[in-house]
Amino acid sequence: MSALTQINPLAVITSSSVVSTVILTGFVLALPFLYLANFYFRYKRHQAATPWPVNGKVVVITGASSGIGEELAYEFARQGAKLILCARRVDKLSNVAQVCKDKYGAVDVTISKADVTRESDVVRLIETISATHDKIDCLVLNAGVSMGEALEKISDFSVIKDIMDVNYFGSTMFTYHALPLLKNAEKSRIVIVSSLSAIIPGVPYRSGYNASKYALKGFFESLQAELINDNIFITIAYPGVVKTEINQSRLGKNPISLDFSNAMSAEECSKIIVDGTIKGHKEIILTNMGRLGRIMEGIFPDLLFHLSYSRSKNYFSEEKEKVKDQ
Ligand SMILES: NC(=O)c1ccc[n+]([C@@H]2O[C@H](COP(=O)([O-])OP(=O)(O)OC[C@H]3O[C@@H](n4cnc5c(N)ncnc54)[C@H](OP(=O)(O)O)[C@@H]3O)[C@@H](O)[C@H]2O)c1
Repeated sequence: MSALTQINPLAVITSSSVVSTVILTGFVLALPFLYLANFYFRYKRHQAATPWPVNGKVVVITGASSGIGEELAYEFARQGAKLILCARRVDKLSNVAQVCKDKYGAVDVTISKADVTRESDVVRLIETISATHDKIDCLVLNAGVSMGEALEKISDFSVIKDIMDVNYFGSTMFTYHALPLLKNAEKSRIVIVSSLSAIIPGVPYRSGYNASKYALKGFFESLQAELINDNIFITIAYPGVVKTEINQSRLGKNPISLDFSNAMSAEECSKIIVDGTIKGHKEIILTNMGRLGRIMEGIFPDLLFHLSYSRSKNYFSEEKEKVKDQ
């Protein structure tokens, strides 16, 4: 009998469980100290990032023609920011800009037709901002598209590539070109509108979307380490389900829609994001499920996957109907 076949799988699982239990017990005992240490570093970051009054700040928002981006524009306008709003639908952008001026008193609002997947559009926009304002205080990377089909159901792999193009390459390429202007401002911000799906794994029908949001996390956490000495503060926001137009723009032939019955409003979501941006938070998790998921991710990955997978049926209307019918 070879050495390989003599390994007792039960013994392997048991010994790895013992090691995990010892590590977990040590971790639990150290929790109060770890909590205090984390609090100290959060406080230090807050001290370095503030004060940051929004009034007069140059704020660029991608995907400002609807949903969360539109409401972010209103919240920044209300607090006196100079706005540069971009998206592909110029008619919608014009309406948003008008509301910023008429309802929220904004005096300086520029709109720009820009597709974040086209480098020439992004470069042109950055050149315009450079000529008019010479700095960016806050870059909000919100433009995004989603999906709603199992991988084996999508008719064309371009769905996955297109999502990556908008959500990941659109945001990272925009940042690359905006960096010199971000460096011209004091305590500037980069805000990424990610998703709870980058914290809670095991949500089906969104493999490409979830991947794009995980990729953003990897990219921007690394970039934060590069930019910390330049006093550029990166905030990643993780909203749960938010009532917007995202069901209409979902890629693919037959996408399952998000169920909005318990969704947060885009207005509430945006207010929380702007508040966290002002405070210079490293991350903003918008739901309790997300906060719990963040803690469980490293300690109970199998349990978290199970809970997330079972709960995910509540996120999609068609799946809910199936459960009712069973
Ligand atoms: N709704 C949710 O439940 C939820 C939850 C978590 C995270 N999010 C994230 O929130 C962000 C905003 O989504 P939303 O829910 O507000 O959906 P939405 O109403 O559909 O807004 C998406 C925005 O992205 C813009 N956009 C899409 N493709 C673009 C491109 N190639 N170039 C430039 N702009 C583009 C759209 O503008 P045009 O079509 O005019 O270009 C639109 O303004 C996304 O990143 C999404 O992943 C949403």
